[in-house]
Formats: sequence, C-alpha cells, structure tokens
Amino acid sequence: MYYKKQKQIVPLLILAVAMMIQVSCTKQEPSDLSAESIIPKPVSVVSTGDYFTLRSNTDIYVMGESSELLDIGHYLADRLRPSTGYSLNVKSTSGDPGRGSILLAIEGSSGADINSEGYELSITGKQLRLTAATHAGLFRGVQTIRQLLPARIEMAERQEGPWKIASGTISDYPEYSYRGAMLDVARHFFGVDDVRRFIDFLAYYKMNRLHLHLSDDQGWRIEIKSWPNLTLHGGSTEVGGGPGGFFTQEQYRAIVDYAEENYITVVPEIDMPGHTNSALASYAELNCDGRATELYTGIEVGFSSLCIDKEITYKFIDDVIREISEMTPGPYFHIGGDESHATKLSDYIPFVERVQEIAASHGKQCIGWDEIANAKLKPNSIAQNWANPRNAVKAVEQGAKILMSPSSKAYIDMKYDKTTKYGLQWAGFVEVDVSYNWDPAALVPGVGKDDIVGVESPLWTENITNIDEIEYMVFPRLAGIAEIGWTPAESRKWEEYRTRLGKHGERFDAMDINYYKSPLVDWTALDE
Ligand code: ACM
Repeated sequence: MYYKKQKQIVPLLILAVAMMIQVSCTKQEPSDLSAESIIPKPVSVVSTGDYFTLRSNTDIYVMGESSELLDIGHYLADRLRPSTGYSLNVKSTSGDPGRGSILLAIEGSSGADINSEGYELSITGKQLRLTAATHAGLFRGVQTIRQLLPARIEMAERQEGPWKIASGTISDYPEYSYRGAMLDVARHFFGVDDVRRFIDFLAYYKMNRLHLHLSDDQGWRIEIKSWPNLTLHGGSTEVGGGPGGFFTQEQYRAIVDYAEENYITVVPEIDMPGHTNSALASYAELNCDGRATELYTGIEVGFSSLCIDKEITYKFIDDVIREISEMTPGPYFHIGGDESHATKLSDYIPFVERVQEIAASHGKQCIGWDEIANAKLKPNSIAQNWANPRNAVKAVEQGAKILMSPSSKAYIDMKYDKTTKYGLQWAGFVEVDVSYNWDPAALVPGVGKDDIVGVESPLWTENITNIDEIEYMVFPRLAGIAEIGWTPAESRKWEEYRTRLGKHGERFDAMDINYYKSPLVDWTALDE
C-alpha cells in the first residue's frame, strides 16, 4: 500500500515540477544577474537568484536634496516611463525609502575608481540601490539599470510587463578615462537633433567624450562672431555640393549642454594647418598669395594650408580658439594637424608649437592627430594615434599621452566588408570582430597602458549623409569600442562578447536603430 502510494506520488511530483518549470519559463523571470548581457561588461557581478520588480507604484528616491541628483533620477524615470506607462515619481529622501523603491545615492569614494565614474548596484527583491562617489558614476550606473531590464524598456510606446531585474551586486568602473567617438560634421553637415541622438548612443554605452570635427576643406561648421564669413561662405556647401550648414553659437552651446547632461565632454576640433580650404575660401588674407580659394566639394585630402608666415593667421587662430573655448567647458581643444601635405615640415613644426601655446592661453589642453608628435609637444598634449605608430612613440618619448584610434580597427567609417554601401576602405574592411579584438596597451611597442588616456572611434562622413547611415556605421561597432575603453583587456573575449552583443540586437530594434546585422553574430530580434 505504502509502496503503491509512493508510485503514484512520483509521477505527480514530476508533473508538478514540470508545471513549475513551464510557469517560470513562460514568465521569463530573470534570476541570474551574471547571465545578463551588459555592454560594456562590468568588472564584477555577483548574482543572488532573486529579482526586483518595477511596478506601477515604484518611486525613484535620491538621497538628499541635490538638484543634480534629482536630475539623474528624472533622467532614469524619463527613460523608463514611455514603455512601462508607470508614473515613477522622483523624490528626495533622507533615509531608507523602503520596500519596492529605487534609491540613488552619492556615497563615499570607491577605491578602485580611477576617474570617478565607478558605481555599485545592489539589487534585492525589496530594493534597487545605486551608489557612486560621483554624479557621473551614478549616471553610468543608470545605463546598467536600463540594460538589465527587458529590451522592450527602450520602446517609445507602452509595453506589457513584467519589468523584472535579476538580483545581486555589480561593482564597476572604467579601465580608461577617455572613451569617445568623433563625428565629422564638416564633410557632410548634421544638425543638433542628429548630434543629440549620437550623444544618446555614447551615453548608453558609458562613453564620456564627443569629439566634433568642426572644420575641413569642404565646410566650416561653427559660427565665429569675429570672422563671420567662415560660416556664411565657408559653411555654405559640403561634399557633393549640398547646402552644408553650420551650428550657431547658441546651437553649439545646446549641444555642449546636452552632452553635459549625459556626463559627456565635448572635444571641439578645428583642423589646421591643412584641411583648411573652407577658411581659405572665406578670407583672402589667410592665403599666402592674398587670393581666396574656391569652395571645395570633393574628397581628396592634403592640398590646403594656412599661411604659416603671416601674422594674421595667428590672430585668426587666436580668435577661433578663444570663441570656441569660451563655449566649451571641457579641458580639451583638438587642433587637427593631420595630412598637412601642403605645409613644409619646417613650417609645420613651429606652427604646431605656436598653436599649442595659443590653446594654452585660452586654458585648453591640446589634442592633435599623431603627426603633431613631429613638433615639440607640451607635456599635457595628447597625440591621437590613427596612422603612424612611430608618431605615437615619438609623442610618448616627449612625455605626452596617447589617444588610441587605429584606423584599421577603430575607424567606424570603414566598410564592414565589400557589400557595405557607405563608408571608405582605405584602412581595410573593419568587421565587428576586427573592431573589437584589440588591446590599446598591446598595439604599439613602447606605448603601454600608462601612456594611454583611452580610445576613440572616429566617424568620417565623406559619403555618409543622414542619421540612418550614421547609425549603420556606428552600430554595432561603437558598443565594442566602448567595451575596449571600459573593461579590462583580460576580461574581454570575442567569443563571449559576440553572444552578449547578439542580445543587443533587440535593444537596437527597440531604439529604432538601423544597425549592421553582421553574420558573425547571432542576433536576437525583438518579437513584437
Ligand atoms: C585622419 O583620418 N585624417 C585623421
């Protein structure tokens, strides 16, 4: 009898367990924090097997009254509100707000945090608690919260829940202090809305620098009040002969402000002494022969030069750097310096040295493309390694630092393969694995981790004309460059990354991003 009963119980137990598995599968409850596909990969993740649920009555609390903290709380609420439809009230508190809440707090200083962008996320069934030593750290942690929620959280219209986050602890901080991307608004012009969307992309992957290439042969894109013809004439066209355009100072300030709200520093670039035809066409006096050049809409490089011997050249540069620096709170001014084939080296060297001094007189630290290492660099100057590793070594030997943007890996305007419709291929095809699979500190013999400020992926726009094309070149490579900048090299493996990246396909879909579906990655699509 006993035996018989037991025989009946076993199948019943099996049935019950099977039903439980079925229920938990259909509910898709995350329960393993360490299995979540966070990019960049965090330094440390410990899972505890439970989950926190975002509900219609969840409030977001910030510890204390600081308006900056409240702004971060509102940023989080604004990201989560459209898809959840929850009100997600943001409130100040002076104590533990208790069960069901999200809490953001500035707390102490996290020891390993090299540049104050680290954060700790502690998730239990009762509370989601994000702490950091700085506001920037909290902002980076907020991006992790977004990525821990289902991809549908990024959609603009209301979605069905549940909105669960696996429980555990994340301790995280970046490997490099400079993690950025460059947008070339000179070859083709892109307006404020496009730049804001670009900033959103950087923020989502915890990048912290936006380099704007504001002038080139084909166009001058930033209003300079003391030299108005730069934009009136020099901004009036672009590659291919389109209407071009430029940022008024008010618009530029709006970009800087938006970047600041995202804890991103704008790095303005005025490329010189080459890549200056738009200025030379706008002001005859900047030319050695006193005659203005024609506007240029082609894509050849290396034919233009400011007149190195004329004093007016330095008055011009001083005015331009002064006006831009006054609008730019960050420490950097990028002076270009690449491909100055129309400038003799004996002219180029004193030019770069003098321009560094002008930038310093306006309180700015210089960044320049790697050729600037031919000049005597100021100790705080940064050489951006794009083409010639010998220049990087020369810069380091002078005590300068390196920003890593090797064109054959980090240039996101290079085609992925021969089928890519946009972009160029002079540095080779840059598939997603090529752009991910490198270590800045192992790239140039003689240039080690301590010599490097970080990484940047430039997007040149000779044949990129609208935001859809920008997105296609940026995604998914930007995510990989962001991870190179954030995650220690020894924790990064392509085979593991490609699985995590595949899961971001549904996030790109949710954000309506036009991305390249690399055949090297198994993409997870959003099933709507
Ligand atoms: C560059 O790509 N000319 C810096």
